[in-house]
Amino acid sequence: MTQNLTETSRPAATPAASRDWWRDAVIYQVYPRSFADGNGDGMGDLPGIRSRLPYLRDLGVDAVWLSPFYASPQADAGYDVADYRAVDPMFGTLLDADGLIRDAHDLGLRIIVDLVPNHSSDQHEWFQRALREGPGSPLRDRYHFRAGKGESGELPPNDWESIFGGPAWTRTENPDGTPGDWYLHLFAPEQPDFNWENQAVADEFRSILRFWLDMGVDGFRIDVAHGMVKAPGLPDIGGHDQLKLLGNDVMPFFDQDGVHAIYRSWRKILDEYPGERIGVAEAWTPTVQRTANYVRPDELHQAFNFQYLGTSWDAAELREVIDLSLDSMRPVEAPTTWVLSNHDVTRHATRFANPPGLGTQLRTPGDRELGLRRARAATLLMLALPGSAYVYQGEELGLPDVTDLPDEVRQDPSFFRQAGQDGYRDGCRVPIPWSGTEAPYGFGPNPGGPSWLPQPAEWAQLSVEVQTGDPTSTLELYRSALAVRREHPALGAGEAVAWLEAPEGVLAFRRESAAGSFVCTVNTTGEPVRIPAPGRILLSSTEAVAVEGETVIPADSTIWWAV
Ligand code: NOJ
Repeated sequence: MTQNLTETSRPAATPAASRDWWRDAVIYQVYPRSFADGNGDGMGDLPGIRSRLPYLRDLGVDAVWLSPFYASPQADAGYDVADYRAVDPMFGTLLDADGLIRDAHDLGLRIIVDLVPNHSSDQHEWFQRALREGPGSPLRDRYHFRAGKGESGELPPNDWESIFGGPAWTRTENPDGTPGDWYLHLFAPEQPDFNWENQAVADEFRSILRFWLDMGVDGFRIDVAHGMVKAPGLPDIGGHDQLKLLGNDVMPFFDQDGVHAIYRSWRKILDEYPGERIGVAEAWTPTVQRTANYVRPDELHQAFNFQYLGTSWDAAELREVIDLSLDSMRPVEAPTTWVLSNHDVTRHATRFANPPGLGTQLRTPGDRELGLRRARAATLLMLALPGSAYVYQGEELGLPDVTDLPDEVRQDPSFFRQAGQDGYRDGCRVPIPWSGTEAPYGFGPNPGGPSWLPQPAEWAQLSVEVQTGDPTSTLELYRSALAVRREHPALGAGEAVAWLEAPEGVLAFRRESAAGSFVCTVNTTGEPVRIPAPGRILLSSTEAVAVEGETVIPADSTIWWAV
């Protein structure tokens, strides 16, 4: 299935070398299914993304992270990879990937691809052969095959539950048709976990890294980066409701210390290539301190700050998590990596529209206007903090989650397996609107054409076309914010924020630089707050008003100041 590049091609240029580019990069996540559909089949694809790269350059981001586009039966929207070196025909070809990387570099954008090393697809050649060859096949050691418990092996080997619901084990059938061993899958049954104790697995992934590095990519987002190493003997966890423990506790299958040896070996490979190629960990750990372990100087470069993502719109809570994050990253000298939305959680415009404490998978629209106002304010806060930040496609348009998708169109496997969390990830994956008045709003080339998930009619008003040039639009707010962030000497990298005294419910901090200082004020309350102006307003998420030498920060708003 592996595709080969047949065109002889010019070497991939790397964007202007700037040391430590990743320490303050703004990285835009493209979810290939839902970004741009070049061929009109209703599914986004690489040619579509390629055609929209100038939009991303003009938006002002530094790099683009692409969720998986590899050959896959799509049991988990591409996070079930059947061939790590091939592009799925539904997304295009390896030549399209090559063209996309080159075009991005020509525009000064870096490309980060997703790597899925915890599990493969059950259609991966290794797994299929392991099944066919039966017990005793050495290929079985590349996954976790085990005999079942009970008199005739009818019970799973341990009590682990799948993140998507149900047991984390599925029983196989022997080649002669008799019931056979079980295999481990922390996610869907179509996603068998690799056994990282097996050297062939480790060797294969080092080779996959080199394959994409040779293709010119600037880094990898590592899926389930906390999952590859399992506790010896695969011990029972005991008790029920294991899903509630996720992210709150070290589990025998998550955040095991042994996983760090893998990253130390990968870092050596990344460092062999010019231009600072990076690794970013998707590691759901119990604490920011444990997240910091993934970005020690000889491991990965960034790790998503999911504790920040999960924080409510509350000044005290935000301040606490910001301090804790900066304090935790300081000893390992890594940047903090802020993120508010991605393809696995309800968009922040909808999270903040709902009461706090409901988690990150919601099916209620809440107060849409309030949610958007807070989302805009939250984005300005995030972009003012030291470190790197991720932007999920469509958040720059202020898109809410689509909370009323009918069950018939839902595709998230966790919905079908009824994970405790309701598996409502489809709501943030709806294709984004670009232009026009008829669905799919420029997502595909033909008005009236298909889109793999239906878009709400109101999205005609949220398209890139409608928002461009409107100074009050969320898109123009992002464009301005990213331009200011790039230019202001006190923004971007750095590790300190100096908190300023502020009324209750308001965050105020200063960032210093020799060439000019910066202040950010965030009003998380539902009332306007008057403060003495600390400088000149650079940008405001809601229009601010000056009154008698003071400035009114409107409810749920952020103001950036030049000092
Ligand atoms: C995390 C990915 O972001 C998510 O979409 C996927 O379902 C799981 N890992 C399993 O690969």
